[in-house]
Amino acid sequence: MTAGAYQRAYEKSLTDPKSFWLQAAAGVEWEVPPTRALDDSRAPLYRWFPDARLNACANALDRHVAAGHGDRTALVYDSAMLGATESFTYARLLDEVSRFAGVLRAQGVDQGDRVILYLPMIPQAVIAMLACARIGAVHSVVFGGFAPREVASRVRDAAPTVIVTASGGLEPNRRVEYLPAVDEALRLSGHRVRAVIVAERDGFAHDRSEFDGAGSDGAGDAVPWLSWTEEMAGATAVDPVPVAATDPLYILYTSGTTGTPKGVVRDTGGACVALTWSMANIYDVGPGQVMWTASDVGWVVGHSYIVYGPLLAGATTVLYEGKPVGTPDAGAFWRVIDDHRVDVLFTAPTALRAIRKADPEASLLAEHDLSSLRTLFAAGERLDTDTYRWAAEHLQVPVVDHWWQTETGWAICVNPRGLEALPIKPGSPTVPAPGFDLEIVDGSGAPQASGDEGNIVIRLPLPPGTLTTLWGSDERYVSSYLTAFPGFYATGDSGYRDEDGYLFVMGRTDDVINVAGHRLSTGAIEQVVGSHPAVAECAVIGVADALKGQKAVAYVVLKSGVDVEPEDLQRQLVGLVRQEIGPVADFRTAVVVDALPKTRSGKILRKTMRQMADGEDYVVPSTIEDPAVIDALQPVLRPEPRTASERA
Ligand code: COA
Ligand code: AMP
Repeated sequence: MTAGAYQRAYEKSLTDPKSFWLQAAAGVEWEVPPTRALDDSRAPLYRWFPDARLNACANALDRHVAAGHGDRTALVYDSAMLGATESFTYARLLDEVSRFAGVLRAQGVDQGDRVILYLPMIPQAVIAMLACARIGAVHSVVFGGFAPREVASRVRDAAPTVIVTASGGLEPNRRVEYLPAVDEALRLSGHRVRAVIVAERDGFAHDRSEFDGAGSDGAGDAVPWLSWTEEMAGATAVDPVPVAATDPLYILYTSGTTGTPKGVVRDTGGACVALTWSMANIYDVGPGQVMWTASDVGWVVGHSYIVYGPLLAGATTVLYEGKPVGTPDAGAFWRVIDDHRVDVLFTAPTALRAIRKADPEASLLAEHDLSSLRTLFAAGERLDTDTYRWAAEHLQVPVVDHWWQTETGWAICVNPRGLEALPIKPGSPTVPAPGFDLEIVDGSGAPQASGDEGNIVIRLPLPPGTLTTLWGSDERYVSSYLTAFPGFYATGDSGYRDEDGYLFVMGRTDDVINVAGHRLSTGAIEQVVGSHPAVAECAVIGVADALKGQKAVAYVVLKSGVDVEPEDLQRQLVGLVRQEIGPVADFRTAVVVDALPKTRSGKILRKTMRQMADGEDYVVPSTIEDPAVIDALQPVLRPEPRTASERA
């Protein structure tokens, strides 16, 4: 780590990106090494390392075992829900992954086929992801908190050959039943898979035969529901299949502005190069060190830094099944750091706020030895300054905010600790990572002066490891991200840079909201709320929430003549959103109003409503249809006056 190292790396990555990334590519083991960095012949669609071949699983596992490190710990599964821990050496993980790859093969999964994984935080989730990568199949993990309808939309889009699930998940106040959910998702999707493979969990005694036949295409052919344990017992290990660097490693669906999720496609070579580079240069984690990313494998953070990043680096990764609080208490994170001698923790600010709320003085820290911890990274939402200060004061390690998205796969802006520890400015994720050429522009694409807020855009091409397209639709990729500002990728976030070039991310410019670090589409929630027979129209907005960052609140106008108690309606709508989108939406509030503010062309003024609810200054557009609606809404949206700290 040397002073100026960041600036040198950043400049080189922009002035000579090809040699910068070819050099970074040397950190990866290739079957056929790249001789060319970038194929720009189909711009704005770019492909990194177009003539190279590799296997991501071989890079994550085989190469470390072949180098004599098979005895090192690859994965520690720590379940606060079960009070149990299990460790996997690189050799053991390689054995299980190779055999599960054989199980997938035996079910007809081939290179390029998709496999949907809908699992809780258990080792089988990691094993199944790596097994897909081993045979060149494309995994698509669906977060366990999504309802069957959301799983179904992903099944329809990805058309998987096989689904891998578990007999059950454990949440603090309930058990998650995956089998009926998969059964319903298959029925809703109308798609037929060759098999559903079920990882059995103790305590979930499901009779799989109950579900045999689900997802049949009407011809009545039964879809077999297979036991993970039984299939593994007779499985043949398979070798890694080298794939083109440009072949997809995975699809990860994320919320857009509409109800239809976007299937972000990550290519194999780009992901391996960028994640390997980031482990050394951003997280400063190398072989034998321990990284704990307290997220879920269903999110991009989990893909990159529970699974691929740490294993590519030959480090130990911790897979934690539990919550920051209540499993059993707000000392859970400190216990895990202590038990597994964690070097680097990566979590969402919401988790820190939850711990702080339960234990404001961090008194439970005294019960644990945190001397192994070097750095705390936070992402998923803005790290507010209060939470930053609390964590920095109590943990006495650098607390590093970094900003990224499902689409980018790794940090767009960060304090690259492995390269150079830059000064931390609370509230800022610091500076652009090498490869990300940021601009702040107004709505017409004109660059903004430092200090002026605008759309954050990234000049094309994006660096390796970012999305290459949306599954099945280059057009949707181009129209969603590359059209608003030609030559740039539109992040959908707004912000500004200060005079030192530090970025401040202020929030989304679209209808995406962030609840407890989980990305949700207000449009999708609106679709569900609007489907209730009593609802004439509705607007769902993300309102500031002290614990979860934002919460989704629906404002509904009733159909004329409808007579329903507001509490009853709220209960029904909450149930409907839970059933259709899932508990992850954490939707709890629906308010009946007389009218919604609209422009004369009929567009609901959601931004103005959010600003009113959050106590921000707002300007009512001159195109408003009826200004009186705003006056009537004021006491509903903002019943409490602004607090002194909000006014400050
Ligand atoms: N499978 C099934 N259900 C799930 C789930 C999963 N994997 N994850 C969450 N849910 C459910 C919860 O059980 C809860 O359901 P309930 O309404 O029946 O209680 C609902 O979804 C909301 O869950 P959650 O967001 O966890 O809220 P909470 O109030 O239980 O906990 C926090 C609050 C702050 C502790 C929790 O949100 C948290 O740990 N946040 C950090 C999130 C994070 O790491 N995000 C990753 C982004 S990088
Ligand atoms: P996701 O794709 O789920 O990772 O969500 C990405 C979105 O979360 C970004 O577009 C931002 O709006 C928000 N986000 C993630 N990390 C940060 C951060 N460090 N600061 C501010 N916003 C963030």
